[in-house]
Amino acid sequence: MTVKEKLLDILEKNEGRYVSGQELGDSLGVSRTAAWKAMKVLADQGCEIEAVRNRGYRLIKAGDILTADGIRNYLPDELKTNTIIVLKSVDSTNTYAKKSAADGAENGTAVIAEHQTAGRGRRGNSFYSPDKAGLYMSVIFRKSQFGENPDLFTVCAGCSVCAAIEKLTDKKPMIKWVNDVYLNDKKICGILSEATTDIESGTVDSVVVGIGINLKNEDFPEEIQHKAGTLGTNLSRSRVAAEVITQLYRCLKRSREENLKDYKAHSLVLGKEVHFIQNGVERSGEAVDIDDKGQLVVVTDEGRELLNSGEISVRL
Ligand code: BTN
Repeated sequence: MTVKEKLLDILEKNEGRYVSGQELGDSLGVSRTAAWKAMKVLADQGCEIEAVRNRGYRLIKAGDILTADGIRNYLPDELKTNTIIVLKSVDSTNTYAKKSAADGAENGTAVIAEHQTAGRGRRGNSFYSPDKAGLYMSVIFRKSQFGENPDLFTVCAGCSVCAAIEKLTDKKPMIKWVNDVYLNDKKICGILSEATTDIESGTVDSVVVGIGINLKNEDFPEEIQHKAGTLGTNLSRSRVAAEVITQLYRCLKRSREENLKDYKAHSLVLGKEVHFIQNGVERSGEAVDIDDKGQLVVVTDEGRELLNSGEISVRL
């Protein structure tokens, strides 16, 4: 940890309380000048620190500095030892996480970046990932976590993001099948789950759950302006990252039935007319259910259809 990170860590752990200059110097193990310089860097990066003579320093607002320890501070005890990798910039956290999984990264390892140069979405789409405006995170889950049910993530991931947003804000997100999270009819989050297979056994040995949430974006490229939205929050990315990780684990512990019930309760498409393309032909029907495999059940003029992937569109 750098002096700046250590300092932020101490102030965050003492939230609401003044920490004396002496105490800070002792814990940091650096000179007062070095501590003061680190304080200035934090302030420059948006932290508000109150300094009161004879009392010390107190954190008023943490700003939005993304560090592994900052995230860890908000995690429950049982997840505090998980590996967290924070990167300034990367092509894609999913690509990085998949490589790490292949190299043996532990269950629960989270890879988070300030910025992605080639963020990836489903069906070969890109995911717009400007610097510090969103949460770009991939979490590696190994077989020990999901057993024989790698498809569990289809319903868990969207539920976890909704639960995290509901816990931290008073907003009411919805899930557009399969796993886009919408707020006020705009997409604010995309999820890309990718599996890696053990060549010898042919079974899935890890799943990387990639989550991108637009947190503070104001401008979107023209081609996505009509559908992209933002959570619009002052919450720090560390706080949001920790809550999403916490909720992922909570959802993974629930039964498939509980997750499905939650997923359906958040569905933006059930009961609506949806349009989809099948074998090159555009079709439409009413979305009536989501089955236990996460497939969308659509009633068309020709009968019931089960959609298991692909894009659907729905009038919002
Ligand atoms: C989609 O909208 O189709 C899915 C988007 C998933 C984006 C996230 S951002 C973190 C992780 N890294 C990636 O390259 N993609 C996912």
